[in-house]
Amino acid sequence: MATDWIKKQVDDLKEQNLYNNILTIESPIGPEIQINGKKLLNFCSNNYLGLANNSEMKEAAKKAIDEYGIGPAAVRTIAGTTLLHKKLEEKLAGFKKAEAVITFQSGFTANLAVIPALVGEGDLIFSDELNHASIIDGCRLSKAEVIRFAHANPADLEEKLKESPADKKKLVITDGVFSMDGDIAPLDKIYEVASKYDAMLMVDDAHGEGVLGESGRGIVDHFKLHGKVDIEVGTMSKAFGVVGGLAAGKKEVIEWLSQRGRPFLFSSAMTIPDVAACIAAVGLLEKSGDLVKNLWKNADYLRAGLKKLGFDTGSSISPIIPLMLGEAKLAQDMSKELFAEGLFAKAIVYPTVPQGKARIRIMNSAGHSKKQLDQALQIFEKVGKKLEII
Ligand SMILES: Cc1ncc(COP(=O)(O)O)c(C=O)c1O
Repeated sequence: MATDWIKKQVDDLKEQNLYNNILTIESPIGPEIQINGKKLLNFCSNNYLGLANNSEMKEAAKKAIDEYGIGPAAVRTIAGTTLLHKKLEEKLAGFKKAEAVITFQSGFTANLAVIPALVGEGDLIFSDELNHASIIDGCRLSKAEVIRFAHANPADLEEKLKESPADKKKLVITDGVFSMDGDIAPLDKIYEVASKYDAMLMVDDAHGEGVLGESGRGIVDHFKLHGKVDIEVGTMSKAFGVVGGLAAGKKEVIEWLSQRGRPFLFSSAMTIPDVAACIAAVGLLEKSGDLVKNLWKNADYLRAGLKKLGFDTGSSISPIIPLMLGEAKLAQDMSKELFAEGLFAKAIVYPTVPQGKARIRIMNSAGHSKKQLDQALQIFEKVGKKLEII
């Protein structure tokens, strides 16, 4: 049969320990979850602030369903938009201190919308070598030439910009918090270089939204670069605990995206309950920065504990903590052992990270108690010793 090759490919993945086993969760997403009837400490979700099961947000979603229904029923440019979608965009713009915001179905589609709307054939993109897959795909779709610069390295970016023709349109793109390493882009320095060479600057702040800056306002707020970064892409699927993408920037840039961002023009918008829950999430963050503070306290405590045990946490300085292991098999074995001991933390292997750089990725949450973090450290110690990692 014409599709026989697929079975062989899947078998190969299994043999090479690269097969992604997707587990079924039987409980709400929180610091603890249930899988196969087993209660587990959860260090996998991007639920940084513990909002995925927040009662105020659930109430807001239910109320919105009663008032407006469920789906937008078509793309916004054709069938109109709801009051709630407008309200979310205004609220996000105020929260992020940006002129305007446009929302998308996800962070992934935000990147697919923004990049090809800003650059095309004959233009140049300067992209950090560790940028997320959705940025890579957005770059490919744009047909612009992609020049990769060394990870988080403004000096290398400058070298590459210096060598490029001055008359070409240029876009510099970097992740904010790098999703597999947990380090933070030096956005202030990148901005200086980009503006020196008259390049547009875009940051994908998926893992900084609700995490960095005052009360989780994101990486632009963290570096006080308001009005200077041309486009800040974000997601509401992580710290906000819902789903949906966003782009923040100057009014004319956001207006352009509403005319030329293809996922905006050709795919229906976020659903009503998602939008209402996101409005409530922004409201919670505006009221208090305590959740963000707890998240960082927990992350710093766990990272220090893991380092003390002898684990290599790479370049992490954020709530994303990798345990660098190298071989895919070791990472898969560790994940299985952790699971057996009651802790859910997934192995991250190729192609999500390069071959030979497999790791366990630990995602922190404001929702973990000190007792749960200490339990986790005990489990990491036991498994680390058993597998002779520490
Ligand atoms: C840097 C980055 N950008 C975009 C995305 C996609 O976000 P979403 O899940 O909202 O599509 C992710 C998610 O993993 C991400 O890490």
